[in-house]
Amino acid sequence: MQTSLILIKPDGVQRRLVGRILTRFEEKGLQIVGARFMCIPLETAEQHYAAHKERPFYPGLVAYMTSSPVLALALRGKNSIAVIRKMLGATFGSQAEPGTIRGDFAISDGYNLVHASDSPEAAEKELELFFPEGTVEFDMRDTPWVYDVGSDLR
Ligand code: RTP
Ligand code: MG
Repeated sequence: MQTSLILIKPDGVQRRLVGRILTRFEEKGLQIVGARFMCIPLETAEQHYAAHKERPFYPGLVAYMTSSPVLALALRGKNSIAVIRKMLGATFGSQAEPGTIRGDFAISDGYNLVHASDSPEAAEKELELFFPEGTVEFDMRDTPWVYDVGSDLR
């Protein structure tokens, strides 16, 4: 089992797509273990996207991410990091496949609605950044039906 850090970005909030995007994750079978509606502090946005510091789009990206509130989510599930990245689709909305979140709702390249951790190492860092007090541990009663009764969930 893995936990991934998701951000429904400012355009997702402003375009009133929070519910629809969150529904996709719930319907997939992912478990919400953290949710925080927040304005990202400048330093947090800079740290979150530090890997892109030298890229020409970095200043605009930080400005975008701090321009309006986001919904930060911690989502848990089997292989959830790769599963969620696949659900998001390609980075640029104009190139993302239909059926993915970006492919269905975004046509902009920069304003692409949602972020998700791209590796276990990134997830660990990002969860610490957005959920420093940790996530909420609890059992979901439907787990044997979402996976399968005999599945080995580790
Ligand atoms: P994210 O980190 O937000 O989940 O997106 P990603 O992995 O698919 O893409 P990444 O390469 O990490 O880029 C981070 C975000 O920067 C904006 N971007 N703009 N104009 C551009 O060339 C450009 N390239 C990237 C996007 O908002 C992208 O999600
Ligand atoms: Mg990224």
